[in-house]
Amino acid sequence: MKLYNPTPTPGTSAVSFAGLIEKIEILRSTLRWSSRLERPEIEKLLKQATTLRDEVMGLSHKERFVAAASAAGEPEAVVEPVEISARERRQALMERSFIFEGTFGDNPKLLEALEIAEKAAPTDLPVLIDGESGTGKELMAKVIHANGARTDKPFISVNCGAIPESLLESELFGHKKGAFTGAASDRRGKFESAHTGTIFLDEIGELPLPGQVKLLRVLEPHEIQRVGSDEVIAVDTRIVAATNKDLRRMSQEGTFREDLFYRLSVIHVTLPALRERRDEIPLLVSYFGDEAAGQLKRRPVTLTPRLRDFLLHYEYPGNIRELRNLMYRLSCLAGDTADFAHLPQDIRPKPTGLTAVGAAGGKASVTDLGTATSLSEAKRAASDEAERAFLERGLQEVGGTVAELARRFDMNRSHVQMLLKKHGIHSKDFRGNRQAGGK
Ligand SMILES: Nc1ncnc2c1ncn2[C@@H]1O[C@H](COP(=O)(O)OP(=O)(O)OP(=O)(O)O)[C@@H](O)[C@H]1O
Ligand SMILES: [Mg+2]
Repeated sequence: MKLYNPTPTPGTSAVSFAGLIEKIEILRSTLRWSSRLERPEIEKLLKQATTLRDEVMGLSHKERFVAAASAAGEPEAVVEPVEISARERRQALMERSFIFEGTFGDNPKLLEALEIAEKAAPTDLPVLIDGESGTGKELMAKVIHANGARTDKPFISVNCGAIPESLLESELFGHKKGAFTGAASDRRGKFESAHTGTIFLDEIGELPLPGQVKLLRVLEPHEIQRVGSDEVIAVDTRIVAATNKDLRRMSQEGTFREDLFYRLSVIHVTLPALRERRDEIPLLVSYFGDEAAGQLKRRPVTLTPRLRDFLLHYEYPGNIRELRNLMYRLSCLAGDTADFAHLPQDIRPKPTGLTAVGAAGGKASVTDLGTATSLSEAKRAASDEAERAFLERGLQEVGGTVAELARRFDMNRSHVQMLLKKHGIHSKDFRGNRQAGGK
């Protein structure tokens, strides 16, 4: 392990920006081992970290000043935008030791949100995170907390939608004994509990207007008063708020105070819905499949091709939470192989014509005559289903290689491709999915 040596190199009067960054990186990696260090060593390292941080801040101010001065009067340089790939952006975040807290994905919109979070984390600026339910707002709030200077201080979460209006003030700011019926003793509120740390105001859009006024009062002077008390208590709390509502629109409509919206949203991060980042669904399916298997202490569940296809194309109104829950449900309810039958009833696809089961290796069995109204229609539907099941099982066995499938069943490759097209089967959905026991 490379250790940070704080002794200045002889002959270097001015420390370079890059040099400082390197020292910080070395310090950070040393601190990762802090559980194995003694307390005095940790304290020494923390002091060194603070000194370094001050140096960097000083240097960066100076550099910015010099840059601004030299740029004044000069024509603005034309900077060509540099396109970097999603993978490189994520890699860069990791190299900068950004802590993700289990946040997955390479989607550009998600990366943009993470990059904003990375820049916001070390500051004390309020952050507003919005996005549909289940898009990872709470996770993102934790990422911000974990990457800031308050990381080892409290992270207090308050669900603003779950507190009755009459108790709101006492919940947030605490109360003095006897302040109201039932106030049997002094109690500190969430803001005091979050002192020196972060308070996460979840579902801030649900906060009633009187509560908004009270919150507004604490934001600027960073002072609170417990209910029933005259004493003013200073609180140093970083505020991260989240909502699945459009607060800007609410403030235009008069249901959310505009001044509060602007105070909370100094940094505004919007998390994309899962349907806007479909490219990540395969990754999340396999990640949560493995996670569920680990928790349930069983082998990861195999998905029949049609279930996999369904999961890849489903809309996920409940976003990542819904996908995660689905994978846990499938892992719990299915044996080795999960199929439509293991999906919740309300999202299970309706049988179209006939349903042939057994795409994952079992023999096709006609279980439902569905909507067929004549014998010939029923026969055609049965034949279609058998064809589809045959193709899916074949692709499963050859790991999605159309050429191999054609060879194996002595069929013409373009004929196989035509059949796949007819059934809307994508061979790539079966890649890396080769099933043991194939012929
Ligand atoms: N990018 C991601 N990678 C992995 N897991 C994620 C990601 N985003 C969210 N999750 C997981 O999805 C679930 C829901 O996330 P979270 O509770 O943060 O959502 P939320 O936006 O706060 O939802 P709600 O609005 O319903 O409160 C959690 O289990 C979380 O760990
Ligand atoms: Mg939440």
